[in-house]
Amino acid sequence: MTTVLDVQRFKDEHRRFSMLTAYDYLSARILDEAGIPVLLVGDSLGMVMLGYPTTLPVTLDEMIHHAKAVSRGSRQALLAGDMPFMSYHVSEEQAIASAGRFLQEGGMHAVKLEGGGRTVGITRRLTEMGIPVMGHLGLTPQFVHQMGGFKVQGKGQAQAARILADAKELEQAGAFSLVLEGVPGDLAARVTQALHIPTIGIGAGAATDGQVLVFHDMLGLTTGKAPKFVKRYANLAEEIANAAQRFAREVASGEFPGPEHAYSANGSTPPPSGEKEEVRYGAG
Ligand code: KIV
Repeated sequence: MTTVLDVQRFKDEHRRFSMLTAYDYLSARILDEAGIPVLLVGDSLGMVMLGYPTTLPVTLDEMIHHAKAVSRGSRQALLAGDMPFMSYHVSEEQAIASAGRFLQEGGMHAVKLEGGGRTVGITRRLTEMGIPVMGHLGLTPQFVHQMGGFKVQGKGQAQAARILADAKELEQAGAFSLVLEGVPGDLAARVTQALHIPTIGIGAGAATDGQVLVFHDMLGLTTGKAPKFVKRYANLAEEIANAAQRFAREVASGEFPGPEHAYSANGSTPPPSGEKEEVRYGAG
């Protein structure tokens, strides 16, 4: 199983690694079996799975629900759960309780927290308690209203210096890795060089130690103009629509179901020898 030590080794050995978001049992199983070393149950699920306009409405209970499903589907990957808005903002005690739920109930191995500043103290406390923390700086979506939108961060010198300082403080506090989102590539390169822990970029150029994308973006399940940092490795939205239309056409024409999909009392269409006939969803 991939651990935080493996992730550190990836950086030490200059092996660039991938992280993908996962939100449910089956996609986690597919990604895990495909060998993706780190899966993030991101609060982006609020937007891509639940249809919220931002990640702010996502609750801890919703996150735990998805974390449980992902942990049931995964055997090898390091699993990180994203602490949602207001699950660590009230007090360090609240942060500890929320993070504890991710590990105890959600089956996660680590948690991710957005921001520097007071998040540094929380990171120290969680790490001391044996809860690995992934930091997240740059474009931090939970700060959308403070940032005035989903905007690239760290373009000016002062902001860039703040991000670099926050990154060092998070490392000092014990974070095992750091997501850098929506920052100029040269800033991400400077942060990556300055830290011993691995950085994982999204919209942060090519110099980070790892790269992360949102599952639905990467597979072309989200449609319309993709942000610049997204690369679509498949076009599943179109494939799904085509398959659904074919199904509807075959139902209308009577082509589906054929005899091979039907049960009969006299067993005239037995399953291939040795196989048990099962009537359940999601077999295989
Ligand atoms: O919520 C999320 O999916 C994230 C990643 C994009 C890093 O924070």
